[in-house]
Amino acid sequence: MKILVTGGTGYIGSHTVVELQNAGFDVVIVDALFNSQKEVVDHIAAITGKVPEFEAFDLTDNKKTADFFKRHSDLTGVIHFAAHKAVGESVQHPIKYYRNNLVSLMNILEEMNTHGIQHLVFSSSCTVYGQADRLPVSESAPIKKAESPYGNTKQIAEEIITDTVHVSKLNAIALRYFNPIGAHESGLIGELPNGVPDNLLPYITQTAYGIREQLKVFGDDYNTPDGTPIRDYIHVVDLAKAHVKAIQRMVQGQMKQAFEVFNLGTGNGYSVLEVIKAFEKATGIKINYKIVGRREGDIEQIWADPSYSNRELGWKAERSLDEMVASAWKWEQHYRQ
Ligand code: UFG
Repeated sequence: MKILVTGGTGYIGSHTVVELQNAGFDVVIVDALFNSQKEVVDHIAAITGKVPEFEAFDLTDNKKTADFFKRHSDLTGVIHFAAHKAVGESVQHPIKYYRNNLVSLMNILEEMNTHGIQHLVFSSSCTVYGQADRLPVSESAPIKKAESPYGNTKQIAEEIITDTVHVSKLNAIALRYFNPIGAHESGLIGELPNGVPDNLLPYITQTAYGIREQLKVFGDDYNTPDGTPIRDYIHVVDLAKAHVKAIQRMVQGQMKQAFEVFNLGTGNGYSVLEVIKAFEKATGIKINYKIVGRREGDIEQIWADPSYSNRELGWKAERSLDEMVASAWKWEQHYRQ
């Protein structure tokens, strides 16, 4: 069985290609390389002993997308990661985000329909919940107005999929990620942020490596035990494995509805200061940090209720926060050397 993985050289995509190949699937990657490197394909091959097929083009190009699907009409399913993902940039460049993230999805849905490819796994985000009224947050929690154009693309994408599923043979699963961190145990693939990182873990590892002078902790006056915001950090390898479970669920005809949604989190929330402490303990390196004002758009706290995913997908996040931060550090060192 062959799976198209769009964005397969990106952070979560590359880890998912590894797990798919380990589970016996063939993979073809399509990635425009806007925010990733072609060498990732070689690293995936080094880890798995299997070279995935790879094509570099932009899925917003409907002619190229149609041509690709004509040549790959034997696909079993599609896992669609390819998207822009920087929250702050999306506020500055909304059209760039709406065009890239939504046109690519629509092109893929049209081609899947044309070629009778039935199974789609879509990369969604816990950002759709905003600041949830009740914690932990389950899949039935209401969707809140998006805080950014990026978050809005995830909400609109879920709606586009819902409407498409109604009128076609498409089956779809949206996976709502909490905060993926960490890297593959080999140290060969990991997160490669463009320029100055927006996210906490890459900022911590770059500060530890001496690339950044000081980590800014955005606010310690939240209504949490130590005053810093709480998130559900999840190891990227655990996250990747859930995609294999999702594809298997579809292929084996186990879905309860044509469009299903699952939370991918551990169920544990950690504060920013707890993450910094875990990193310091795992590596023995002190992080130079300073408490500064809040970052606009940050929510106070969120963590997942993963019980539906645990039960229905037969999946559970297994790796601890210590393993997450240690693997992120191994990757940073490996990459820099
Ligand atoms: N943080 C800092 N300093 C930094 C970076 C982050 O203190 O330099 C804090 C943030 O304020 C937040 C926490 O670390 O409290 C996590 O921030 P991240 O930027 O790592 O992650 P977010 O929770 O803001 O965002 C992530 C993804 C988004 C996704 C969102 C869903 O990056 O793509 O989760 O909630 F939309």
